[in-house]
Amino acid sequence: MSIAGTENNSPERVPITSLLSKEELPKHVGVIMDGNGRWAKQRGLKRYEGHREGAKTFRRIAEYASEIGIRYITFYAFSSENWKRPQEEVNAILQLLREYLDEAESRQKENEEKGIRIRFVGDISKFPEDIKDKINEAHRLSEDKTRCTVSIAINYGGRQEIIKAVKDIAAKVQKGEMSIDEIDEAAVDSCLYTAGMPDADLIIRPSGEIRLSNFLTWQSVYAEFYYTNVLWPDFTTEDFDKALLDFAKRGRRFGGV
Ligand code: IPE
Ligand code: IPE
Ligand code: MG
Repeated sequence: MSIAGTENNSPERVPITSLLSKEELPKHVGVIMDGNGRWAKQRGLKRYEGHREGAKTFRRIAEYASEIGIRYITFYAFSSENWKRPQEEVNAILQLLREYLDEAESRQKENEEKGIRIRFVGDISKFPEDIKDKINEAHRLSEDKTRCTVSIAINYGGRQEIIKAVKDIAAKVQKGEMSIDEIDEAAVDSCLYTAGMPDADLIIRPSGEIRLSNFLTWQSVYAEFYYTNVLWPDFTTEDFDKALLDFAKRGRRFGGV
């Protein structure tokens, strides 16, 4: 079986699965899919074309991550702040999301074989009804899959997520379902959009920017950060391997010695 996206690579490429053991792989990878606009600009295209190309990269990397044994991967697709963009661009991004959701439905059998669970993280209440319905359907169709959870962060902001958790906890305390002393890290964790997922181990940002831009604020406290100048539409499975190899060399101490 070929590994997704490796078909055109040089024959000497060593599969990452023979370079790194399962234990050396990050359990949860976060990917900030940045640089679509600049990619389009470099080619004299509309920003929208960059998003379309970026959506293809997303499909390739998601599939590849699941094949090599990454358990959780979360892609930042649309931030709480991205509504500030021109309406035309926001609409184009929503349209790409629709296309992906429609395809996920028709490709259910394939996803089933791959054991991919699709999960959307973020405040989806702001989206048009048809998109909300498709998201709920995508969740339902894949909820029992356990091999790889592919999360897509839309209308996501790390701070907004923490506010949501604080409100959920306050409501439980107000109803008498929980005491203040019971508020701990696990309690907050269980109220996040990412409830049930481990913290992010590795966060990858292409396009040369070295910031989080409100991504996985709570979950990234001990994440290793990897950045590259490659723009997201050009990001390949080889670039993903490079990030994994770099991650495997990091000495993680979590405050210990
Ligand atoms: C990331 O690419 C995609 C979204 C934020 C939706 P950008 O659109 O931010 O691309 P640049 O940063 O302008 O190149
Ligand atoms: C972060 O990229 C959001 C996504 C990739 C979805 P931005 O392009 O919005 O981030 P800033 O504005 O450069 O920090
Ligand atoms: Mg950007």
